[in-house]
Amino acid sequence: MLFKVVDKRVNKPRTEIQSPKEPDFLRTRVDDYHVRRKVDLWQGTHPLQGRAPRPGDIKVRSNDYLCLAGHPHVIESEIAALRAGGHGDAVSRVWIHHERDVTGEFEQRVARLMLAEDCVLCSSGYTANVGLIQSFAMRDAPVYLDMKAHISLHEGVVSAGARAVLFRHNDPQSLDKALAQSGPGLVCVDALYSTDGDIAPLAELVEVCERHGAALVVDETHSFGAQGPEGAGLVVALGLADRVHFRTVGLSKAVASRGGLVVASRRNIEYFRYEALPAIFSTSVMQHEVAGFDAVLDVFQTEYWRRDKLHANHAYLKEGLDALGYNVAASKAQIIALEPGDIRQTTQLRDALEKRGVFGAIFFPPATPEKRCLIRFTVNCGLSRQDLDRIIGVCDEIRDEVGMAEWRSTKRKSTSPGQLTPSAARRPRSDRSRVLSDWLNRGQINREAGSEVDLRLARNRPAGTFHNHPAE
Ligand SMILES: Cc1ncc(COP(=O)(O)O)c(C=O)c1O
Repeated sequence: MLFKVVDKRVNKPRTEIQSPKEPDFLRTRVDDYHVRRKVDLWQGTHPLQGRAPRPGDIKVRSNDYLCLAGHPHVIESEIAALRAGGHGDAVSRVWIHHERDVTGEFEQRVARLMLAEDCVLCSSGYTANVGLIQSFAMRDAPVYLDMKAHISLHEGVVSAGARAVLFRHNDPQSLDKALAQSGPGLVCVDALYSTDGDIAPLAELVEVCERHGAALVVDETHSFGAQGPEGAGLVVALGLADRVHFRTVGLSKAVASRGGLVVASRRNIEYFRYEALPAIFSTSVMQHEVAGFDAVLDVFQTEYWRRDKLHANHAYLKEGLDALGYNVAASKAQIIALEPGDIRQTTQLRDALEKRGVFGAIFFPPATPEKRCLIRFTVNCGLSRQDLDRIIGVCDEIRDEVGMAEWRSTKRKSTSPGQLTPSAARRPRSDRSRVLSDWLNRGQINREAGSEVDLRLARNRPAGTFHNHPAE
């Protein structure tokens, strides 16, 4: 008998709509969120529920580092592609065979930019990472992960049935020890860490991998577009393109869209296309989205000022927050974390910032350990000097209110020369404000200072040739 569907409009009031009764296992699983976390830990309000920004507020929580989400060239390219071909074939990439392979052309362009043999486009950075580890790691074999590596890399290990071996964050010696103990395997790191802006010591990690016959996977999600020549990323910037086996990218940051990439040898990319489960069993990215990505590459390769301005904005904000006593030492590029400690302290900081019109992003478990919750500021190239001064001013004003001097991160802050120590951070406000204005009046950022030196390699232009945003 044929299954008969009655296609009639259902006009039930919402109050009468009911969900099925839940079996006990399901209720218990979800109660961990509703009871333990939401009621006990967060007193009934989800920490992500802050206030909505209003016109005039400053948002430093988007990953659109180069301000391309509304770039006319990108938008017009997408519209033209939509008009020409609609959404195209909404099927898995393995079924798409056109005379002109627009996606393939984009992949080849990325491969050339990133100095790699080949590249494959995925539906997100998350699926690029899961698909990569799932398809290349052997069951029960070790996969080495930096403790702060993105969660999608961990998910890939689970999907592969492999064994996760964690090593200390950014510590090549810890990796060396782990490899000596458990033998060769994939080693996964982020080039630029998404919570605090720390950068991986890629050259040292490559050496350790080579010594042990391991293969390095570098997630360039936050560095693609923002670091390296024409935005090619940190592996290219450091001259390591022929020594890193795999690179992945999420297109949700400097590309300001959604999609992902895996970049590797021709042989491994072909294998990924036809063997990685998310590549086979998930629908491809649409043609107008690819047109948008391609237009973004045009911008990467012509509008150099965006990267210059991004790096200058980051240096200015980092130095301002550092001078106020905040521990922002981990930040080496456009991401800066203020780390109060537990979720209560962190929501207090979030509320104090938002009340004054500054909107960062709150991070808490599972994105961080319980005692290392944080507010992340992501800098972009569209922030003016006034915006940055306003953020610094607000962070100055709220220090006592949020108890910054007592944060564990503040206490960890190095006491090396030139850094404001926790005791200096406890000075009376007028005195601290003088520290701030002295600093602001210096005007010029010392580009040679501290960790910034590491990054000069990754910049497109030598220090000192920075030009202002044309709109300023
Ligand atoms: C380092 C890193 N890798 C991968 C991803 C996932 O990328 P996507 O948002 O494209 O799925 C993210 C975050 O979004 C990330 O921060």
